[in-house]
Amino acid sequence: MPTPVADHWAIVPAAGIGARMGAAYPKQYLPLAGRPVLLHTLDRLLISPRVAGLVLALREDDPYWPTLGYAPDKPLLIVTGGDSRAASVLAGLEHLAGHTAPYTPVLVHDAVRPLLHPADIERLCDEPLDADGCLLATPLTDTVKRADAAGRITQTVPRDGLWTVQTPQRFRLDVLRAALSDALAAGREPTDEAQAMEHAGYRPRLVAGRRDNVKITVPQDLPLGECLLAAQAGEGV
Ligand code: C5P
Repeated sequence: MPTPVADHWAIVPAAGIGARMGAAYPKQYLPLAGRPVLLHTLDRLLISPRVAGLVLALREDDPYWPTLGYAPDKPLLIVTGGDSRAASVLAGLEHLAGHTAPYTPVLVHDAVRPLLHPADIERLCDEPLDADGCLLATPLTDTVKRADAAGRITQTVPRDGLWTVQTPQRFRLDVLRAALSDALAAGREPTDEAQAMEHAGYRPRLVAGRRDNVKITVPQDLPLGECLLAAQAGEGV
């Protein structure tokens, strides 16, 4: 087996306030099995042999980060995020562009997906690196309904070909930077990086990922995350 090359950089937008969690502080700082969600997430990326370093986008004057004393053994660059996820990611990309080659592959990953499995990072990084890029996703298994404002079903949506997408999303630094910059300049707010890429004319590939790569969004996700963490520990992760 050849030694994996640490040729990727991770970008983690963590400048959100997580209003849906309704907690006193941002959800990325809530404890998951006694440790802030964000630190689980950063560890998962930084222990990957494919990752050379990480750019973390934080809110201006974030009071929580400095209290954590996190000191990884790979480069960790901190930038000030923006008013939207896309603006935070773009801030990270622009900072990274001063440190590495334009064609560097980047893995953009939500701060609140602390259960990212090493095998999923490998699978994504093994994909060919073209301009379109790729992202983790899972095929929909639930039946999907469209509803009106009163919550009454208006349609059953055929789920064939439908996926929910996760992160990491992997793109070339220069290509994603241009796509996000154009999206923001045009007043669009892509909710993930792939959406900005699609709008720029690319067709990112979906890579089937694990279902335990959950996003900690609402309070009941925390106990769910703890169960999944314990199950992964049982697998040796
Ligand atoms: O809550 P939401 O799903 O929008 O957050 C997705 C990710 O984007 C989180 O990691 C959050 O911290 C980040 N984000 C950001 N800057 C913002 C809004 C969200 O970095 N202004």
